Amino acid sequence: TSPLRLGIAGIGTVGVGVIRIVQRHADMLTARSGRPVTISAVSARARNKDRGVRLGDYAWEDDPVTLAGRDDVDVFVELVGGDTGPAKDAVEAALKAGKDVVTANKALLAHHGQALAELAEANGAVIRFEAAVAGGIPCIKALGEGLSGNEITRVMGVMNGTCNYILTRMESAGLAYDTVFQEASDLGYLEADPTLDVGGIDAGHKLALLASLAFGCQVDFDGVALEGIERIAIDDINHAADMGFRVKLLGVAQMTGRGLEARMSPCLVPASSPLGQLEGATNMVVLEGDSVGQVVLRGAGAGEGPTASAVMGDVMDIARGIRLPTFGRPAASLAKPKRADANVP
Ligand code: HSE
Repeated sequence: TSPLRLGIAGIGTVGVGVIRIVQRHADMLTARSGRPVTISAVSARARNKDRGVRLGDYAWEDDPVTLAGRDDVDVFVELVGGDTGPAKDAVEAALKAGKDVVTANKALLAHHGQALAELAEANGAVIRFEAAVAGGIPCIKALGEGLSGNEITRVMGVMNGTCNYILTRMESAGLAYDTVFQEASDLGYLEADPTLDVGGIDAGHKLALLASLAFGCQVDFDGVALEGIERIAIDDINHAADMGFRVKLLGVAQMTGRGLEARMSPCLVPASSPLGQLEGATNMVVLEGDSVGQVVLRGAGAGEGPTASAVMGDVMDIARGIRLPTFGRPAASLAKPKRADANVP
């Protein structure tokens, strides 16, 4: 059988993780999907950089758009990031050429998900984005496939590990926000633009994607009411603890009589609840359906192994011939959501 040939754009932490899995588990991947998964070509900004992984077998492209268009690339794996520029250009080029796309890019999909889903369908291609939401937690698959027989009543989650690290560390060590922010920075947790993390934007992107899948509507990032953790003081955390609560940057999306309510904001959660017990740089996604009840998923929301795990899950589905619409139903059938005013209780 013919191999499924990947072109990987972006060889940072996640890209290296994907390459390691393909190299280490070649036989297992073939046995599971029925065809070999190979890498034809890669691209990144710097060519001569030691990434601790063997790249010599792969063709090199400087430009991800050229990589996306190569004849020997069946699946374009986009790990560049950013909602404009090369990532967007290359994803569009891949889809126009009828190639499938696997991406970890939550910002791109939160802003352009509908247009990209339409472009994919028009060209007989699929876009998959498990790695874009909660890293290694297979929440897109759970929501879009396993829970397909449910009316989804609510999705919730802690979807930014950096913020959860900051909040839990402030509490356990009794440290001020600024001190722990600096720690998180030293540990390399923060995005290049830290506002994406502490301003709730990164987590808001993820919630917008989950809400689209859950409620069958177009991605509406602008409809997510956002508040970050920058103004949380140690006193807030201590007062909450005295009452048996913990402060979490929590995303909640639910369909109400007034429309879709989606917010990502600091919330008090009972200390004894699964969300209340989430420590450190970890994620938790809570899915609620009318038949299943509540499903709680916990795991690593970032990092080489976990994020590469999610990318490979998507690659394996494509290798197996699974071709689902991007947001769970045909793009043309996704309506713009009616927004509820998230501030009205
Ligand atoms: N900055 C994100 C986090 C990484 O801290 O969870 C994954 O999106």
